[in-house]
Amino acid sequence: MPPPDHSISGIERVWNGERVVPVLTIADRSTAIPLARALVRGGIRVLEITFRTAAAADALRMIADSVPEAILGAGTVLDPRQAMRAAESGARFIVSPGFGADVAGASADASLPYLPGVATATEIMGALSLGFDRLKLFPAAQVGGVAAIRALSAPFPDVRFCPTGGVDRRSSLEYLALPQVFAVGGSWMVPPDAVAAGDWQRIEALARAATGGPETAFA
Ligand code: 3PG
Repeated sequence: MPPPDHSISGIERVWNGERVVPVLTIADRSTAIPLARALVRGGIRVLEITFRTAAAADALRMIADSVPEAILGAGTVLDPRQAMRAAESGARFIVSPGFGADVAGASADASLPYLPGVATATEIMGALSLGFDRLKLFPAAQVGGVAAIRALSAPFPDVRFCPTGGVDRRSSLEYLALPQVFAVGGSWMVPPDAVAAGDWQRIEALARAATGGPETAFA
């Protein structure tokens, strides 16, 4: 078995400096490829496909096969079976809303970096004790946003966060200005009505704005 890739910087190595991660919940697999292409055209590379829908694994595989520029991972991974399915479907990283020791083990078995979620100091201590110091803060806005990250960073100066949950373009910029934040995640650049309408130009424009492009009429 290869050595587990849950090292401290594993997730950052795979994300390769990308700092905005769309959280995609794909119900209709026919939208997967045009959606991924629109985001990539807008300058986004890392895509998190949540395992909340029956179409998730197929969507991941379709994008992996057709959009090679995308760095794909699986989100909302709640058990080891989903982690293995994600790995088989082409995921290059695994994200959970909380910390699952069994999900961490399955990710390590698949040599995929794991980004666990935390919301409290106790959960951060638990993650640190297992060697994880790159953590998803979820739900970021609801647990206090920028002020929560500043407060949690005092006792945990080596932790770096990916705040996710309730993030929009404006707050993403505030988060990304913090030295304790290595990336932000969210769905603000993928409005469900734009996906339903197949309005890929709008999603491309939102992606461009999310990655530092000019604010547009859509942003
Ligand atoms: C989620 O798990 O739903 C993500 O955190 C995205 O949250 P958002 O839809 O509030 O951006």
